This record gives sequence, structure tokens and C-alpha cells, in this order.
Amino acid sequence: MSAAQKIMERIEALAKISDEPGQITRLFASRAMRQANELVAQWMREAGMTPRMDAVGNLIGHYDGQKAKAKIFLLGSHLDTVRNAGKFDGPLGVMLSIACVEELYRRRIRLPFAVEVIGFADEEGARYQTACLGSRVLAGCLDERHLRRRDANGISMAEATKFLGGNPAQLKAARLNPKKLIGYLEAHIEQGPVLEERNMAVGIVSAIAGQCRARISFIGCAGHAGTTPTRLRKDALCAAAEFIMAVEKLAKDTRGLVATVGEIAAWPGTGNVIPGKTRLSLDVRHIRNSIRHAAQAALKRAALQIARGRKLRCQYEAVYETAAVNCSRTLSRLLGQSVKRRQKQLARLPSGAGHDAAVMAGITPSAMLFIRCKNGVSHHPDESVKLRDVQVALDVLNDFILSLGEKHGLTAAAKGGRQHGSTS
Ligand code: HGY
Ligand code: MN
Ligand code: MN
Repeated sequence: MSAAQKIMERIEALAKISDEPGQITRLFASRAMRQANELVAQWMREAGMTPRMDAVGNLIGHYDGQKAKAKIFLLGSHLDTVRNAGKFDGPLGVMLSIACVEELYRRRIRLPFAVEVIGFADEEGARYQTACLGSRVLAGCLDERHLRRRDANGISMAEATKFLGGNPAQLKAARLNPKKLIGYLEAHIEQGPVLEERNMAVGIVSAIAGQCRARISFIGCAGHAGTTPTRLRKDALCAAAEFIMAVEKLAKDTRGLVATVGEIAAWPGTGNVIPGKTRLSLDVRHIRNSIRHAAQAALKRAALQIARGRKLRCQYEAVYETAAVNCSRTLSRLLGQSVKRRQKQLARLPSGAGHDAAVMAGITPSAMLFIRCKNGVSHHPDESVKLRDVQVALDVLNDFILSLGEKHGLTAAAKGGRQHGSTS
């Protein structure tokens, strides 16, 4: 079996681990995440790594360099998912990273630096709406007030972290020392159509869009659906509907802006009762921080205006924000040389999706490799990639890690006569 086939097999095995039967859902610090960490830790051991879990639940596999206390190069992606997810968003990057280390281990190559593969505990933020919890702990930028956030079942983030075997009191101590790091590379499906349009297996990410998330509540007055005339209603769901259309209009009118209301809840949620309260999520993204900030401010004003116009109350809570980041030019240039040795042409493209790499860029040079995915579909069970594209991505990672090794003094002898060969 080729290394790429083994990756696909592992992705299938991981896809069977879910919090929700019949679909793929692995939420931060859930039972499924604990199971996933145990399974992936086993694969890390098979690849010659020593796995550990940190205080927030990140799974980290360590592969020694030539010397003890050598600096560390990080690879990885996230193991959590959205609800009813595809198989590849997150896990493909982790499996490719493990396979890259496994190839070093198979060839008994030790680099001038250690390699650590991270399976981040929470990139999607599906349980507590605050994304990139795992990478923000490693980057030392987690706002610990989030530990008090409660999920739909009233469980706080702190309690959930303990359930996973983590320790909320140790989050500060879990941060990585930037001086010990060389950089971070994340392989991830593109989640968009560009590589397919350009008929390329892989591409390099130039920049990662910034994103901000908010929660908005409209508070009106519940009432009898049969006896309350329309003019006397304070219908919170109609207010929400008007707001959602305003979100869509702003995104249509603003080039490069995407804005989404992905979650909505209405109370009391009974057919013959006028909704007295609604709560929505808001996700706003743009590659330019200034445009994103202006859009977020405009939508906050719109929500307040709609509430005023309908004599309702509105609560607006900014929950999370990650600034747009440019990927490291130095790492991307080295990665580009490996890509060119594999597929001749080189595509550089921005990422509309958020990634842990955007947070890791705050503490170490970070780069991303995109892998083509069918019709650009993601956050959906139809997410899929081609085996041969996974092979190309793995060959690029194997080539890249040895090139990085050479930059740090890896000799031909230590490489064992490296070929730019495929690992099939
Ligand atoms: O939502 C995102 O952009 C990412 O998939 N978490
Ligand atoms: Mn992802
Ligand atoms: Mn995602």
C-alpha cells in the first residue's frame, strides 16, 4: 500500500469517530475528540513520534532531531470538525504531516531540528463559537474569559477541557516558546474552486482572510399567533429575517466580502406563538482587515436600527476575531521550489477560510499548502480529494522538509542519499 493510500485509509477510519451518529461531527473536548486523539496518537507512535496531549487537548507528536533540545519545525492541522462535516477539512493535513515524519523515520533520517506534528483541539469553534482555541493556547493569545462560555447543554469550556483530560489552569503554561520554533506548515484542502479551474493538484497560500464572529439577539414579545394583530407585534423572528437580508445585501455590494448567518434559534419555538426572542451567529470575512471592520460595524448598526424600528431590544456580542495574515515569504518560497519539482506550475492563492496557521503566524513564520478538492466543496459530507493529489502533496512535503533540513545543515550522509523520488 502506498503512503497516500495509507493516508486515505486513516482518514476513513477517523471519519467513523463522531459525536453524532450517521454524520461526522467532532466537537472540541468531546468524547469523539478523545477517541480521535487516542487513534491518531497510535499512528504518531507508528511514525516514530512520541505523542502528548497538552492542557487544552492539542495532540502533539514529537520526532527528535539530531541533537537533544534542537529547535522545532511544526506541521499539522486540526482534528475537530464542523457539524455534519466532510472527512478531509483538518484530518488531511494531520495525516499528511504524520506520513511526512513516517517517511523520515522509515529512511532513518534525523534532521538538524526536531519535527512536531500538531492535531489541533479546536479550529472550527463549532461548540463555543470561538475558533482556533488550540492554536491560540499554543500561541499564548487565548482570552481566558472564554473558559466561562457555555455550550448548548450549559457545559462550560473549562469543564469540557477537564473532561478531555486537559487542565484549564495550565493553559498559559502550554504556550510554545517562539524562540524554540523554526516555523509552521499546514497542508489543507483548498475549500474553493481555484486549483480545479487551473487543473493543479496543489497550490501555495499567499494570505489568510481575517474573520470576526458575533452573536446577536433580538428581544421582542412572545404572543398569541391568532389574536395579536400584526401592527401590535414585536416579532423577534421577523427582525432576524430583516437583518439576515441586510447581511446578504452588504456582502453582495462589497467586493471580496463574505458574511454569513449560519446559526439561528427562536424562542419559544412553537408554531402558534409569535417568537419573543431570536439569537443568530454572524461570520464576516475579508482579506483586508479595514474592509472587514467597516462591514462588521455597519452590520452592528443595522441590527440596532432594525430593533429600534420594530421597538425591540438588540444585544450584539463580538465573540471572536482573527486578523488577516500574509504567509511567510521565506517558507513559501522554499515550499514553492518543492511544488515546482512536483507539478511544474505554481499557483499562489489567498484563503477565504480561516486556519490555525493564521494564529500560528503570530509566533512563528507560517505557510500553507492547499490541496485540490472536488468542486471546492467543504463543510459538507461531499468533501473529497483525489488519491493522486494526496500523493503529490505528500511528495511536496517530503521534498520540502528535506530542503528545510539542508538549509539548516543536513548533509548528504545524514540524508542517506536523498532522491527527489515519490513515496509511492
Ligand atoms: O470557518 C473556517 O473558515 C474554517 O473552516 N474553520
Ligand atoms: Mn480547516
Ligand atoms: Mn473548516
